[in-house]
Order: sequence, then C-alpha cells, then structure tokens
Amino acid sequence: MSETKKILVTSALPYANGPIHLGHLAGAYLPADIYVRYQKLMKNDVIFICGTDEHGVPITIAAEKKHTTPQEIVDYYYVNHKVSFEGFGIHFDNFSRTSLKTHHRTSQEFFLRLYRKKLLLTHTSEQFYCIQCRRFLADRYVVGTCPTCGNPDARGDQCEKCGKWLEPTQLIEPKCAVCGTQPILKQTTQWFLPLARFQDQISAWIDSKKNWRDNVKNFCRGWFQEGLEDRAVTRDLDWGVPVPLKNHGGKVLYVWFEAPIGYISSTKEWALKMGQPDRWKDYWLDPKTKLVHFIGKDNIVFHAIVWPAMLMGRGEYILPTDIPANEFLNLEGRKLSTSKNYAVWLDDYLRKFPPDPLRYTLAANAPESKDSDFSWKDFQSRNNNELADILGNFINRTLSFVERYFEGRVPAPGAFDPLDEELVKFLMKAPEKIGRLFENYEVRAATRDLMEFSRFANKYFNDQEPWKTRNNNTEKCKTTLYLCLELGRALAILWYPIIPFSAEKIWRMLNLSGTVQDQEWRSAARLSLRPGHRLGNSSILFKKIEDSVIERESARLAAIAAGQTSPQPEKKPEIRPDAQKTADLKAGKDKTMDKLSIDVFKKIDLRTAKILAAEPVEGTDRLVKMQVDLGTETRQIVAGIAKAYPPETLVGKTIIVVANLEPAVIRSVESNGMLLAASSGDYLSILTVDRDIEPGAKIK
Ligand code: 2FM
Ligand code: ZN
Repeated sequence: MSETKKILVTSALPYANGPIHLGHLAGAYLPADIYVRYQKLMKNDVIFICGTDEHGVPITIAAEKKHTTPQEIVDYYYVNHKVSFEGFGIHFDNFSRTSLKTHHRTSQEFFLRLYRKKLLLTHTSEQFYCIQCRRFLADRYVVGTCPTCGNPDARGDQCEKCGKWLEPTQLIEPKCAVCGTQPILKQTTQWFLPLARFQDQISAWIDSKKNWRDNVKNFCRGWFQEGLEDRAVTRDLDWGVPVPLKNHGGKVLYVWFEAPIGYISSTKEWALKMGQPDRWKDYWLDPKTKLVHFIGKDNIVFHAIVWPAMLMGRGEYILPTDIPANEFLNLEGRKLSTSKNYAVWLDDYLRKFPPDPLRYTLAANAPESKDSDFSWKDFQSRNNNELADILGNFINRTLSFVERYFEGRVPAPGAFDPLDEELVKFLMKAPEKIGRLFENYEVRAATRDLMEFSRFANKYFNDQEPWKTRNNNTEKCKTTLYLCLELGRALAILWYPIIPFSAEKIWRMLNLSGTVQDQEWRSAARLSLRPGHRLGNSSILFKKIEDSVIERESARLAAIAAGQTSPQPEKKPEIRPDAQKTADLKAGKDKTMDKLSIDVFKKIDLRTAKILAAEPVEGTDRLVKMQVDLGTETRQIVAGIAKAYPPETLVGKTIIVVANLEPAVIRSVESNGMLLAASSGDYLSILTVDRDIEPGAKIK
C-alpha cells in the first residue's frame, strides 16, 4: 500500500468584481477540481481551498462604474461565484472571502512579522495623484501606453497584452482611469518588500523544480535576467486591509500582498468549521504537505516569485510544491474581453446547459502548454459526437439491452473469449495509465485517453454482436453484457474527475450502492458486479444540442466582435433593488410582517433533506421534480428553481424543507413538502446547511 499523501490545493482567488467566465474556469478552477477529485478517489488527504479576492483597485473601480459601494459589489459577487462554482461542480472544501476578520488578522500578522524581521522597508517616492479626483492613483486607476509593447490600453499594474507587470509611473501618456485627467506626481511613503534580496534564493529554488512546466520556469527566468526590484506592498486607498502600524496615514496592504495570504486564512476558516481550529497548521507548517497552486499565466509572477519570497521571509511556512499555470483560453479565435462583454459567463451558461458538456470541452481543450480556443461549434460537436454518440451511446445501449433481454439484472458471465480477455487487460491498465496523467496535471491527455477508452468499449459491444449471440449463443451474450456493465462501472469511476454529474448518474443507473465519490480509484479495474444485481432506471446520459441553439450563441459573440452590439450597459448588481428592503427589514421597518408566537413557529416541521434525484417537470422551464431523502422516508417535491439551478446540479445537496405541508399537485405532479430558498429580485439561492448533517435533522 502506498502512503497517504497530504495535499493542499488552491485555485487563484477570483476578484469579486464580475461573474466567472470560461477563461477563468479553464485556467485555474476546472483543472484544480479535476486534480482534487482524482486525489480524493486515490484516498489521499487533500483539501481544496479558495475564496473571493475582495480588495484592491479592481473592486473599487467596479463599484465606481456601477455607482455603488465596494461592499455591495463584493457581497453580490461572492454569492454569484459560489453559486456558479457549485453549479459547475467545482467543489471547494472551503470558499472564503478576504473581507473576513480571520483574513484581516492573518494578513496583518503576516505583515507585522516581516516588519519585525526588517523585511519590510519604507521608501518615499513620487506617485501619481489626480487633482480632479483628489486621490493617489494606485494600480489600475492609471491607464496609458505600455512601454514594452506599445499597447495603448495598458493598466497601471499590468499590461494585459504582453503580460508585463508595471508600475503606474512607467506608463507612457498616463491618464486617470476615472476622469481622464493627466495625473501629477506627489510624494508618498510606502512599505516595500526587498525582493532583490531574495533573487538568488528564489532562482535556486525554481531551478530545483525539475517537473515544473516550462511556461512557468521560463517566465521566471525572464524576471531574474531583468533583476528583481523591491516592490511596494502598501497603497493609498481606503478599501482594503489597513496597515497594522500606528500613523500609517490611512494606507492599506496591497491586494497582491494580502490575497495569497488568503489561502492560509481560508484554510484557517476551514479548520474552524471542522471544529479543529489548529488543523490548518497540519498543512501549512508540515514540510510533507504538497502545496499546489492552480492559476492562469497572468498570475505567475505573484505565485512563483513574490509569494514564495514572502513565505521564505516568514520561514516557518511551506513553499509551493507545484504551480501548474495554464495559458489563456480564447473565444471563437479572439481574446476574451470582460469590458466588451465578449465572454461566455458561467452563470449564463448554467441557465442554458448542463455542466458536464462544458467541463468535458474545456478539459479536452485545456490550454496547458499553449493558448487554446473555445468555439460553440466545437462544444456542440464534443457533446453530440463524443459524449452522446460514444460514451452516452455505450452506456445507454448496454443498459437498454440488459433491461430488455435480461430483466434489468446483471447476467452471469461464462468463459472469456480472446476479445473479452483483451478488453479486461485494457481495463486493468486504465486506472494506472489515466491516473498518471491526472497526477501530472495532463488533463487534456487524460480526457483524450478516456474518450479513446469509451470508443473501445463501444467497439467491443459492436464486435461481440450481442443482438446476434442473444439467439445463437446465450452464454456469450451474457458474458458480453456482463463485461459491458463492468465497463460502465469502471467508466463512471474513471470519468468522475472530469464529468462528475454524469459519472454519478451512471452509478445510479447501475443502482450501485453509495456514490462514485466514495469509491477508490483503482477499484475501477476490479470486476465486482454481482450477477443477478438489479439495475436502476435508465435515462439518456447526454442530450444532443440542436444547431439552432448553437447558432444563437455564436451569433451573439459574432455581433459583439463586429461591434454591432454595445457592451452590456454598466448596471448595478441585480441585488441592488432589494438592498433597501433588506436594510429596512434589518432596521425592523417592515410593517407588513405580523409577529408570530414561538408556539406557532414550532408547528412548522423544518427538516434537512438530501436530494437524491432531480429532473425538469416536462413542459415547463421553471419546475424541478426532486426525490429527497428525509431520513426516514423518500419524498417527492416540486420547486420552481430550474432557472437558477439546472436539475443535475442539485443532486447531492442538503436542503431545508417544510416537511409537514399539505401535499399539492403542481402541473399534474405531486409535491410533498416545500423547499426553502432566498430570493432577491431575480436572484435565487436555495437554503442549505453549513456542515454535513444527516437527512431528516430537525431545524429549530
Ligand atoms: O487575478 C485575479 O483574479 C486575482 N484576484 C488572483 C489572486 S490569486 C491569490 F493570490 F489570491
Ligand atoms: Zn481622476
């Protein structure tokens, strides 16, 4: 038995200033989730940490553009990101926020420790100041021309075109990003991290990383050649973590100083939720922990140079073991652009399609060693010609054959013929072969091999011709179908990291106990189905996507690319209309609510329930029919949440239901209980629990 590994996986903390798009997913979230799901099946001790990055200029600029406050922006997008990630199956062990007290305290302490070790120095220098706006212009508050590549739209912190990390004062023809005024130079004092001092140590450390991707190592080498310079880690802003020193003059920590510390704070929050407040130390302070940061290439310098320097400065923390940075994902041959709305937004996608076809498409096209492209046509073809025609076809034809000719029970196999032997041999090797690819972050190759395997399964079915042997060699027919069902079981486990929703669906259709998530990776290669075992109900695994649907999506992007539609008008977050109502409620101003006695409230039987299955109610696009486990019984309930939650994203969630409501018939479907959800304008969030708890637990 190999030893259990301890692995701490992080994905870049997304700025809570706009929704998540495909580029984000392909770079930092999907590859991490795939890796974590695989490691969990390997039964390694792995935790997956993330949270929203809620400070810095990206947030304050978004708030100014939307004429609202930074707080309102981050509150809205924290929920938006959490719901989008959950809907897409990105399953973090903890999804925190950098605005939490734990994070403020952790990053302030981090700063103070470096300060006391004399690893933070003050410099007074001239920085841009806008007379019109009456403030210092940090980072993205300045725009101008990039001194390296000539891009006229470079931002004061980085040029998006060539990736160069900039100081605002390096920009040619600088302007205030808010009012367009040419800024003046004014003296200010900041605290600096003496990066230059760390150059030798960091470059030796990176040289020792033999397995790191070339893109990461080469990028860092470029930096070392230019020579590292000391960098300011504080800013003149009023939104952020205050500098924890007296007389700091209203300064805050630079967002790129405190955001990576968010990985530690989020782990602390996770440990607190587990009821073991010190458990974060088992990861961050134990040199045996493998620390893996999944990021997009624009974040390499911060994760591979600045953050390690901060950790080296502290001394007691582990350093990143690996930083599998991805390149960029383009969209229909062009660069994604948030400001032009040239993107596919995850929340919008999930309103229209199930998560797995996109997970599959992005995995198959993962931008691992070079930029890659997403197109709606490719998405359709991957869904229709690969997922549906190969994997789905194999599973569905196997299940229908067994249902039809073997009364839905696993047939007993006879002796294996050479083709059967070949198939079993192939199967025995698969977990090892595919596992190695996941282990090396080679998602693209793993996806290709898995589809190859599924194609092989289909071919086996064809070559064995069970529709013929059914009449002339029943023994052989039974063996074929037995092995096809075993393959189905194996495919559910092996595909799980990439398409977890469909993998669990296969598991349920096979009526196997537990979930795929509980299985052990190598058990995929064990023939373990019991002859006579009754299969579950089957339904189509992947629905085909019509041309018209794809054309609509492509046309939207083409119109934006051609400049025919203006970018979405800058609007306040949708949550805004209810903000006043919420504030009034908090202030006790809502006169429409009568007071209830506690006895009346106690009559409502609120319980936790686990969603076992969910499907749309036919003929509606709003209703979902769910089977829920209430501890002592399984109930059917119907709820109008399909627009916010595609049915397949609901399975496995623990929700809160009113258990003693009179049954109702909604659109001819009986509903036996009511799910609780919070809504704000069009935005809807179902109520769920903060920790694992058994179904049927009473809510008091
Ligand atoms: O690029 C971004 O979206 C940053 N918010 C990533 C931060 S990663 C980490 F350091 F927290
Ligand atoms: Zn200005």
